[in-house]
Amino acid sequence: MPYNFDSPVSRKDTDTVKYDLCELLFGSREVIPLWVADMDLPIAKEIQDALVQRASHPVYGYTIQSKRCWSAVQGWLQQQHQWEVPDHSFVFSPGIVPALTLMVQAFTQPKEKVMIFTPVYTPFHEAVKGNDRTLITNDLVEKNGRYEIDFQKTEELLKEGVKLLIFCNPHNPSGRMWTKEEILQLLDLCKKYNTLIFSDEIHADLTFFGNKHIPFATIREDAAQQVITGMAPSKTFNLAGLQASYLIFLDDTLKRQYTKVASVPHLNFGGTFGTEGMIAAYTHGHTWYKEMKAYIQGNIEFVIDYIDKHIPEIKAMKPEATYLIWLDCKSLGLSDPELKKFMVEKAGIALNEGISFGQTGSGWQRMNVAVARPVLEKALAQLKEAMS
Ligand SMILES: Cc1ncc(COP(=O)(O)O)c(C=O)c1O
Repeated sequence: MPYNFDSPVSRKDTDTVKYDLCELLFGSREVIPLWVADMDLPIAKEIQDALVQRASHPVYGYTIQSKRCWSAVQGWLQQQHQWEVPDHSFVFSPGIVPALTLMVQAFTQPKEKVMIFTPVYTPFHEAVKGNDRTLITNDLVEKNGRYEIDFQKTEELLKEGVKLLIFCNPHNPSGRMWTKEEILQLLDLCKKYNTLIFSDEIHADLTFFGNKHIPFATIREDAAQQVITGMAPSKTFNLAGLQASYLIFLDDTLKRQYTKVASVPHLNFGGTFGTEGMIAAYTHGHTWYKEMKAYIQGNIEFVIDYIDKHIPEIKAMKPEATYLIWLDCKSLGLSDPELKKFMVEKAGIALNEGISFGQTGSGWQRMNVAVARPVLEKALAQLKEAMS
């Protein structure tokens, strides 16, 4: 049965970040929220059924992630990414964000350097600074409407002694997918300077326009000792509230080093519903996944086309992956606080502020298009009206 994603689902007063924090963060409940990265689309019926079935059992005790769970993950990775991951490689995590902090704690010492390519997802910055490590930001370079890595500068920075690179693949906020050549070049540099890589691949399944994700750890055999991967069904199947994700260690020593730190606060295993949701998604979510991807690709095309035609002052970076669109609003000549105020008060929409992704994000806004198309139509009409 095809899903009807065109009918908006009301999420108001369900204690969601996206809606129920609007008043606090944007000063209004009336804005159209197109910010935090979850979908307003209903999840796969099969996942909902599995959760309801588990909920009908009257005991919700501590849960393990057994062979049943990892087989489902293995099946998905094999099918979607042609990646055969051995059984012993997985470690559960209640989220990729908690894992960022644990990575920093497990593989670096206070004051040591951790590099990120900016602009990038805000918690990358926080995981480094909040753990008293030295944050090295390496600005991506915008060329012909897309971001590129400055490899010369990257080498200069790595030479100074960077312990860990936190890499976003595909990239949030721009939706850029890194090519085989870029990933190989980065691997070579990180090997040369002994820099470990954590590749956050939470958006790996959300690829569009025929693009194919390349898991960093699969790029060459020797990546196994250099790369740890983070993945999850949360973005793919809209399950962020279930708090289930996992890490892939192809190297046992790295796995042991991480688990030593993660097991202290019990952040290497998860809850009953997260585990059931993950299994159901990877086992039965295929039809929904295919339909959702087609729908979101249509949304991306719609937004890019609309902005090109009707709001030419704003330049949209067309994402290759993710349901996020990175909007260059610099030509409006507004400061970051003025830009936020304009979006909220004049256009009536709530977007993520580019500046929160790093200084290079100044003058940009991030729009989440994983919503019903009529909502996007309304939001863009309001933005067009505000511009005029
Ligand atoms: C790159 C990236 N990593 C991690 C997360 C969130 O991870 P989690 O909800 O598993 O903590 C997001 C959510 O937007 C993201 O974009």
